[in-house]
Amino acid sequence: MSTEQNTRAYRAEILHFLADPAEVGEKESFQYFSDGILVVSNGKVDALGHASEILRTLPQDVEIRHFADSLIIPGLVDCHVHYPQMEMVAAFGDQLLEWLQNYTFPTERQFSDPEKARRIAELFLDELLRNGTTTALVFATVHKESVDAFFSAAQGRNLRMICGKVLMDRNAPDYILDTPQSGYRDSKELIERWHGKGRQRYAITPRFAPTSTPEQLAKAAQLMKEYPDVYLHTHLAENSGEVEWVAKLFPDAEGYLDVYDHHGLLSGRSVFAHCIHLTDNEFSRLNETGSGIAFCPSSNLFLGSGLFNLSKAQAYGVKVGLGTDVGAGTSFSILQTINEAYKVQQLQQHKLSTLKALYLATLGGARTLDLHDVIGNFQPGKEADFVVLDYKATPLLGLRQEHCSHIYQKLFSLVMLADDRAVKEVYAMGRKVHERSA
Ligand code: GUN
Ligand code: ZN
Repeated sequence: MSTEQNTRAYRAEILHFLADPAEVGEKESFQYFSDGILVVSNGKVDALGHASEILRTLPQDVEIRHFADSLIIPGLVDCHVHYPQMEMVAAFGDQLLEWLQNYTFPTERQFSDPEKARRIAELFLDELLRNGTTTALVFATVHKESVDAFFSAAQGRNLRMICGKVLMDRNAPDYILDTPQSGYRDSKELIERWHGKGRQRYAITPRFAPTSTPEQLAKAAQLMKEYPDVYLHTHLAENSGEVEWVAKLFPDAEGYLDVYDHHGLLSGRSVFAHCIHLTDNEFSRLNETGSGIAFCPSSNLFLGSGLFNLSKAQAYGVKVGLGTDVGAGTSFSILQTINEAYKVQQLQQHKLSTLKALYLATLGGARTLDLHDVIGNFQPGKEADFVVLDYKATPLLGLRQEHCSHIYQKLFSLVMLADDRAVKEVYAMGRKVHERSA
């Protein structure tokens, strides 16, 4: 074990995942330590184990933080969220296409102002951290200033984030459109400036098929060829009116996914939000190309979009992570998103197990974002992003916990009832980035 100066240890219950419970079986998928210690050196995980074992090897001078009635898990991963939509969360009445026109485009318009973008980016990151989210795949707006503001804020806090400038050159008000050329040029400039800078990575971000011409989608594909390790982030098959519209706009395509596929936008670093109205062939194609899905239950219920079929995605071997999709989603909390995901599966006669849910929120999200080599669990060498959850955060949680005998029950009631109130402390690269106020 490292004896370097910059070593710290954290003692609590600890849970993390080594694999997908659906692939290897629940028992083999995780490690749980009822009295564990996580050792962090220079921002990376150094060791993890039972306190009784770690204490034998830990140098005397290493400080140990002990959290009572607490659970340490890896930092939560939000696979789909819009930072500029923070201020329009919970907008009344509309489904997707009207919601975009009435609320979203007028809000996003304001992000040509770098000062506005900077202020909201900081508030947004405060809110992510208050909720225990340390990594997110984030939509900015069409304005390159909005991306600079976001990455500057994320870099300032040393958070691992993925973001991109929205590409949209039709079917929206003029004030929020780019062109195939300007979208390409701005994206390229941003990739050069931010992709791989510190912990930041770039995602080419066509909003969705209806707001990009075929010329613009071709330009997005050109960028993917020029920069093979950048991400592709968009929406897919969220709303039935949207799916019908795509069929009219792209009459030669075999379906919605085929619009993106035809342009070469599917890859191991492509993430598609929603995927509610997909055919079996489309699930199969997502699997073949290594593409991932962001499952956004809070948003899907709020906009009345539909119920995501997680079992089918699993049966087809498609990578899935959770997304809050704020501002269509109504909570920044990935724990509350698990709560909604559980109910969405109940409505389809499926059971989302506690372990699968926590896997999706951590290692599953990291895999969906192709970041599992650096985050997602506590294997030695991983970046030390983690969250301390308080089992007794509220009187109700405390009472419920008293009536749980098995660890699965404890974890289930915690994730169902917890939100930002249960997030006691949050660490990024071993540095405290959030502490709940007293
Ligand atoms: N489809 C296209 N744009 C958006 C957006 O901003 N939010 C959601 N939920 N779906 C979209
Ligand atoms: Zn979205």
